[in-house]
Amino acid sequence: MAILEVDNISKRFGGLLALNDVSFGVEKGEILGIIGPNGAGKTTLFGVVSGFIAPSSGDVRFDGQRITGISPDRLTRCGLVRSFQIVQTFADMTTLEVVTTAALTRRPLRQAIDYAAEVLTRVGLGAKLDETPATLSLQDKKLLEVAKCVATDPQCILLDEVMAGLTMAETEAPMAIIRELNSSGVTIVMVEHVMPVIMRMATRMVVINFGEKIAEGTPDEIIKDRKVIDAYFGEHLDA
Ligand SMILES: Nc1ncnc2c1ncn2[C@@H]1O[C@H](COP(=O)(O)OP(=O)(O)OP(=O)(O)O)[C@@H](O)[C@H]1O
Ligand SMILES: [Mg+2]
Repeated sequence: MAILEVDNISKRFGGLLALNDVSFGVEKGEILGIIGPNGAGKTTLFGVVSGFIAPSSGDVRFDGQRITGISPDRLTRCGLVRSFQIVQTFADMTTLEVVTTAALTRRPLRQAIDYAAEVLTRVGLGAKLDETPATLSLQDKKLLEVAKCVATDPQCILLDEVMAGLTMAETEAPMAIIRELNSSGVTIVMVEHVMPVIMRMATRMVVINFGEKIAEGTPDEIIKDRKVIDAYFGEHLDA
């Protein structure tokens, strides 16, 4: 059963058609990978799905309900949450306070604080509860983004390049967390440029180029797709 349906979404920014009639479904419990070159429209797509950006046309359905135009905080309460590619930091808050704010989605304050500490520990930031996000390393900032999502108890998480900028060794921790979340029933949609990571993690993939979906399939199918090779991998795969 599809938990998320993207139906004919287009998004125009002035003269730029950032998304052009994009449709696909996300099955409950899967890990769907979304790839595409820089500027393809991946983050815009996440913005539309998560309620941050109003589409020019098309609809999004979550759990069978039309959610187009519903605010991000209401969607978070419905169980659909996203991470941000550009990590947002809050100057005066500690990591515990940041994640507690997210945990308040479903819990009263005292439980939210305890749950936030538990989630931060689960992602490996248990020793950094009192640090401000600005002082964290890039890897830890990314883990904090994941923790913020997890603390809302989502059914479906949209992860926008949580591994970007990390070394292969550093991707192990977020990969393990994402797999664990998925095993506990959370549907994952992830945009990722780190190809070895997305190929290993995704059960299915969607490829976007210049705002259009150009391919959809298993990682094995995608890596052999001529349109994908031309658009995304360029010459280095042929070399
Ligand atoms: N708010 C905006 N106003 C105008 N143009 C925008 C806006 N947001 C994105 N764009 C443009 O829309 C296109 C798609 O951008 P988007 O950020 O969705 O791409 P992306 O696939 O996430 O790229 P990257 O891999 O670099 O993160 C780009 O040309 C971008 O410049
Ligand atoms: Mg992006």
